[in-house]
Amino acid sequence: MGGRRCIGVEAVVFKVGLLGLGTVGTGTAEILLDPAQRHPLLQEIKIHRVGVRSLDKPRQVNLPASLLTTDLEAIVTDPEIDIVVEVMGGLEPARSLILQAIAQGKHVVTANKAAIARYGDEIFTAANAAGVYVLLEAAVAGGIPVIEPLKQSLCGNRLNAITGIVNGTTNYILTRMQAEGSDFEAVLADAQQLGYAEADPTADVDGLDAADKVAILASLAFGGRIKLAEVYCEGIRKISAADITYADRLGFVIKLLATAKRVPDQPGAPSEQLQVRVHPTLVSRSHPLASVNGVYNAILIEGEPVGQVMFFGPGAGAGPTASAVVADILNIAAILKVGRDTVMRDDGTPLLDPLLACSHQDYCDIAPIEELITRFYVRFLAKDSPGVIGTLGTCFGQHAVSLESVVQIGMRDGMAEIVVITHDVREGNFRQALEEIRQFDTFAQIPSVLRVL
Ligand SMILES: NC(=O)c1ccc[n+]([C@@H]2O[C@H](COP(=O)([O-])OP(=O)(O)OC[C@H]3O[C@@H](n4cnc5c(N)ncnc54)[C@H](OP(=O)(O)O)[C@@H]3O)[C@@H](O)[C@H]2O)c1
Repeated sequence: MGGRRCIGVEAVVFKVGLLGLGTVGTGTAEILLDPAQRHPLLQEIKIHRVGVRSLDKPRQVNLPASLLTTDLEAIVTDPEIDIVVEVMGGLEPARSLILQAIAQGKHVVTANKAAIARYGDEIFTAANAAGVYVLLEAAVAGGIPVIEPLKQSLCGNRLNAITGIVNGTTNYILTRMQAEGSDFEAVLADAQQLGYAEADPTADVDGLDAADKVAILASLAFGGRIKLAEVYCEGIRKISAADITYADRLGFVIKLLATAKRVPDQPGAPSEQLQVRVHPTLVSRSHPLASVNGVYNAILIEGEPVGQVMFFGPGAGAGPTASAVVADILNIAAILKVGRDTVMRDDGTPLLDPLLACSHQDYCDIAPIEELITRFYVRFLAKDSPGVIGTLGTCFGQHAVSLESVVQIGMRDGMAEIVVITHDVREGNFRQALEEIRQFDTFAQIPSVLRVL
């Protein structure tokens, strides 16, 4: 590892190359430039180069112009740099630059959930072979420490489930829909104007960002790699003000939940399976996640013997995300400082701390969504004729779907509006019953189908 020089009896300077000086990069630079009253090791960390796209852009942080460059390859190959901090985002060139940094023997800190969820196998295989760390606390839930607790503080537990609100934009939208009784499109437009939602909101509102994050959490909690394509993903576009109102009357709020869970052992199952999924969910008002509102995130982890542990806090923003990035930088600096990276394996690469490195090789077996056992909320618009509720009961009954409640709420557009909540049922059976119900002319529309926690 190049570039360290002694500046005192014990102090050493660790040089950081920042890739990106946007929201997170600026927050990170601000902390690194202002170490007073923070951990003393911060005084030994210096920003050596900063990679950006435009040299002319005004910057909110006071860095010498000479540190900035548009040549990001020069940063990842700079022999002086110990730690590359990738906060530029996107898939490429971020992926290639991370791999190049690793090939040069540099440790990497990244906030890039999209790149890690897609290329984690390639990146961690390369990092393990090179004997370097790739740390990613900021990639999930911004300022909330959840990666390190999963890797370290909770590692004595058998983890069974992770349930989280990990996307601030959708939580903000759902919270406002709930408070104002407004429809999705109106709140989204306002959130975009206020800067809480991107101009292209797809990654957030369609659940893709949450899917990236839950894939990372599942991988850490269950010790295997996750194929992103196997993560079931449904967003919040179809949630209406009517559903929020009915959910409220029934004692629920609607949240976009990201869930990773062990499937209880089933006789004849080929191997242990996981459910890894993102979808809007009715959450009982008494559940701890129900009161997580606005842009806040929370992650509930269930393990044996610890029980339930919930992490709550700001899931994004310059300061919170930089707090997580800097913690990772300090973790690496601490290892370098005490020389733990100089204990070598037989092949001459440094031996990695097994609690900090990600060394899973095998893929987790993810159960298809049809196998999910859950309760459902479903809203029907039906012709107001006798026998409608009986037909529903018969169709559901034929597919072993038992009903917890059936309520005819009133009339909408000349149709009877009926809300059904099921008991725990197999999703595949429930879908078959719905298909059968759709064949009846009586049922004009099924505007919403949501899972219930
Ligand atoms: N924002 C958050 O609250 C948050 C929270 C958690 C995780 N993250 C993750 O953190 C990462 C960064 O997010 P951000 O919000 O800080 O992004 P951002 O504000 O858009 O900043 C991106 C920075 O990277 C630079 N950059 C991007 N592509 C480049 C390229 N091809 N060549 C050179 N420079 C390039 C940009 O340069 P210019 O400044 O010259 O344009 C900019 O400084 C993303 O992976 C994101 O998912 C963000």
